[in-house]
Amino acid sequence: MKSMNFGMLLKVLLLGAFVSQVDAAQSKESYTELYRPQYHYTPAQNWMNDPNGLVYADGTYHMYYQYNPGGNTWGAMSWGHATSDDLTHWKEEPVALLARGYPNNITEMFFSGSVVIDEYNTSGFGRKGHPPWVAMYTSYYPSQQVLPSGKQVRDQQQAQSISYSLDHGATWTTYDDGNPIILDPPSPYQDQYLDFRDPNIFWHQPIEKWVAVISLAKVHKLLIYTSSNLKQWNMESEFGPFNAVGGVWECPNLFPLPVDGDKSKVKWAAIVGVNPGGPPGTVGSGIQNFVGDFNGSIFTPDPKSIHDGGPPDGSLIFEDFEGNRSFADRGWVATGDFIGTSPTAGTLPGQNPVTGFLGKQLVNTFLNGDLTTGTLTSPPFNVSYKYINFLVGGGDNINQTAIRLQIDGSIVHATTGSNSEQLTWQSWDVSAFQNQSAVIEIIDLATGGWGHINVDEISFANSPATNNNANWLDWGPDFYAAQGYNGLAQYQRTIISWMNNWQYGATIPTSPWRSAMTIPRQLSLKTIDESIVVVQQPEESWKAISRSRSVLTLPSVTNIYNLGDIGKAVEIQLTFPSTEAANGKSEFGITVRASEDFSEQTRIGYDFTTQQVFIDRTKSGDISFDSTFPSLYYAPLSPSLNNTVKLHIFVDWSSVEVFGGQGETTMTAQIFPPENATYAQLFSEGGSTNDVQICISEVRSTWT
Ligand code: FRU
Repeated sequence: MKSMNFGMLLKVLLLGAFVSQVDAAQSKESYTELYRPQYHYTPAQNWMNDPNGLVYADGTYHMYYQYNPGGNTWGAMSWGHATSDDLTHWKEEPVALLARGYPNNITEMFFSGSVVIDEYNTSGFGRKGHPPWVAMYTSYYPSQQVLPSGKQVRDQQQAQSISYSLDHGATWTTYDDGNPIILDPPSPYQDQYLDFRDPNIFWHQPIEKWVAVISLAKVHKLLIYTSSNLKQWNMESEFGPFNAVGGVWECPNLFPLPVDGDKSKVKWAAIVGVNPGGPPGTVGSGIQNFVGDFNGSIFTPDPKSIHDGGPPDGSLIFEDFEGNRSFADRGWVATGDFIGTSPTAGTLPGQNPVTGFLGKQLVNTFLNGDLTTGTLTSPPFNVSYKYINFLVGGGDNINQTAIRLQIDGSIVHATTGSNSEQLTWQSWDVSAFQNQSAVIEIIDLATGGWGHINVDEISFANSPATNNNANWLDWGPDFYAAQGYNGLAQYQRTIISWMNNWQYGATIPTSPWRSAMTIPRQLSLKTIDESIVVVQQPEESWKAISRSRSVLTLPSVTNIYNLGDIGKAVEIQLTFPSTEAANGKSEFGITVRASEDFSEQTRIGYDFTTQQVFIDRTKSGDISFDSTFPSLYYAPLSPSLNNTVKLHIFVDWSSVEVFGGQGETTMTAQIFPPENATYAQLFSEGGSTNDVQICISEVRSTWT
């Protein structure tokens, strides 16, 4: 088996498909540019972000999306539109909601939102037998104005509006008599009118009302409203902040799902985009979820869904920076601009909101903006616990904005911020320095952007502090703003996500379009390790385009097993035992989209020691457009009961999506490999992996 070149075999089988692709490359609209996804939706040209208004009706799946009709970066936000009858082959339709005043005098943009079919014409927009479709979305007003409804909006205000369609979603009429139908956030959040967005609406039969979940982005809250006619809305409750709050909260969704398929046991899941502050190890956008109950008015998360984090109980506080005393009064030695200063009370003038500190005060070196420089050194103390825990935020610069531990004049630990005003828990393992005298110093030597540091709550304990971990819906860097379909069977929950990241989304090297959607995924709730978790599976329908399935069983893989040239759009199912950890074996996986010499490659695998799936895109072709792009991502995945690890991998011309286990762990990442990167190999590091099963299918382009 081992000497057989699997790729060659596959290629012979696929020769037909190969020829037709070359043919297609000749025509202009053929979707064959270097990085053009072959089975992920992209508009022919221009910028796209969030999926919007996902709705199924009369046998057609509609997908609207944030779209800039005028260019390849964010702007002139309109609703693009595509339709599909199988969730796989899409047809791009004319723009559904064009920014008002486009192109030269834009007075209103159409931000994210959702669409419902108003079956009983509660809105009155339709007539008997002709239910209107109603879209509810965020209107963004670039400048202050008085609207046709007589309502006055402020400069850059975000408010909620509706439009209706009487022709099955093809064309839309804005409800100018009443828009915006939710003008301002409710008290006490009226000052949040710049960050109030992304209504997710659905019909809730038990209360016979519409429900809208809307995000108060900066204060990390979801507001729940109800309505009987889609025009007048009453606020019912608020949810949050919980778990990941590193950046704004956007694009919420709330939906019911039976647990383990048992329709008598229904739970609700809320999903919330967080940007920045996504999964650990990523930079930028991510989606967290909460499982709980919804009574038509309040969403209550299960205690298991909430992770408080923090230092262990019984920690000894060294300095919490509370109380009315200067640094000098606390025994800290100040230099530079810190001489004569005291801890501050949170956010300083000109600064974005500082979050995550404890009590009322912290060290915030944004005193005179980023220009402030100096150092603060604690009184000496004897190291007597195993860990020093603290909160840190601010600039990411280990040499200039840092908190450090000094022993005998040398720096033995240093930690910096992450270019975020959110403080997170960090720990130093100081077990090696027991009974030695130490000082902690906080330094700010930087004057440029992010030239400040935030520190709080330094304490000693025998275990490290943990952060407010989140339940991540996907652990990769390119999965954001997911939205579920309305109009499907009650518990059928199909979502589509934007496969990009605000961190570098505008600079990915694609043209004339920018951004793709993930493949549609079915969500369900499963009990795994005594917790109810959201699991994802690719929609069944994609199978129609996957073919020439070839299966290999490899009794043993040592080091490398070459799979040869397997192509650029492939589906891979990989199953292997996890029992090898005892042999000290570290990793098993597959390298895809590799050049023949493997100098370009994307590695997808499993780390047996830490029980994590990983994607390594540090050598995945063009990685030059953003310094945070070339990176290695990890996601936790426990082996299944029979000690097997399953990875279901979807490779396209510029992405990989990995479904681990039963779908409880997924990872999505864009890659931009060269044309000739079509090779693959299995790798087993630190020992052999036995009984490997691999199944590779070529996925046919949905555009030919
Ligand atoms: C999320 C988002 C939404 C907003 C839209 C604007 O990606 O920022 O909150 O409605 O994009 O395009």
